[in-house]
Amino acid sequence: MKVLAILYDGGVAAEQESRLLGTVENKLGIKEWLESQGHELIGKLTQPPSHVEWQLNILQYSKEGPDSDFQKHLVDAEVLITTPFHPGYLTRELVEKAKNLKICITAGVGSDHIDLNAAVDHRIQVLEVSGSNVVSVAEHVVMSILLLVRNFVPAHEMIERGDWVVSDIARNAFDLEGKVVGTIGAGRIGYRVLQRLLPFDCKELLYYDYAPLPAAAAESVKARRVEDLKDFVSQCDVVTVNCPLHEGTRGLVNAELLKHFKKGAWLVNTARGAICDKDDVAAALASGQLSGYAGDVWNVQPAPKDHVLRTAKNPLGGGNGMVPHYSGTTLDAQARYANGTKQILENYLTGKPQEAGNIIVGIGKYESKAYGQR
Ligand code: NAI
Repeated sequence: MKVLAILYDGGVAAEQESRLLGTVENKLGIKEWLESQGHELIGKLTQPPSHVEWQLNILQYSKEGPDSDFQKHLVDAEVLITTPFHPGYLTRELVEKAKNLKICITAGVGSDHIDLNAAVDHRIQVLEVSGSNVVSVAEHVVMSILLLVRNFVPAHEMIERGDWVVSDIARNAFDLEGKVVGTIGAGRIGYRVLQRLLPFDCKELLYYDYAPLPAAAAESVKARRVEDLKDFVSQCDVVTVNCPLHEGTRGLVNAELLKHFKKGAWLVNTARGAICDKDDVAAALASGQLSGYAGDVWNVQPAPKDHVLRTAKNPLGGGNGMVPHYSGTTLDAQARYANGTKQILENYLTGKPQEAGNIIVGIGKYESKAYGQR
């Protein structure tokens, strides 16, 4: 049986830090375990070069295109392990070539890099390690909200430059207290964001989700559900996106919706880049319709060097809190999703039932209700 794992080159960092488990070097900690059971694990075979630009090109090449390690090994792999951080994009075309493929395991949370409808049609199961990094992301969301609202990044950049002009920063710095914050998606992460925001004494916490929170859960975070998306965003000072990427959320935050945001609102997206239209977000920042955009997810990963959201700014030259995709891959999270991946594999190999919450696509059907209303 062939298990194919598409991981990323961790380079020197992964050699020095064995807890960087999601890397080619450290192989989720499962290589020895699998081999002891007589299975073969094919990691993605790229060398960590010293020059970063070359590394990015090689990485993109090696998981993209017919000669990539990914596509060469996919044709006879039975198990595919991918991570959302450096995704091997499994399109319908590739699903059709992967004749032996039975199960895709996402080491982490978020399986939109797999064509889930194609997986349903081809009776390929898709599982993820649900819950493994939800606290990690929720913490990052709260940090991102604060750094935008308080205008932190330009303040720090000013210090590094050697300048000290407090008014330039303070003219666009606010308190989170008294603001209205809303989450699109109130699942594991969205709910944890609301929990963590509670002590900030926001004016109101709102959520937009087709699945209402249980009454006791909504009460415990004092969150109010708004059923219409335009109505929802028009009430928020801060919008945070915490829903999966699927047919119903791709491009959801676009120019049309951004018109309904409060002028100067802040937007945080740690869910998936393609939920927010990158050009429309950049234009909204440039016009001041948005005061800030922050997050760690990009419509293509790794993001190209000239990606518009690397440098998009508000009219005062701030408002950008973008980082590479790492909010859900802290060392704590990596330990959890590596263990979870191993557990899913072990269940698969020994015929044990999988944990229900981990199953996105079962055999021939969606099991998760989070990937759109069907
Ligand atoms: P979850 O499945 O617990 O919750 C998702 C929620 O979104 C559900 O309540 C669902 O009903 C709701 N939803 C789905 N479509 C919606 C729509 N059109 N409008 C409003 N709500 C909608 O998932 P969890 O664990 O909270 O994760 C959410 C997403 O966050 C993942 O699918 C993934 O894309 C992203 N994520 C990002 C990470 C990172 O490192 N940046 C790490 C982990 C997850």
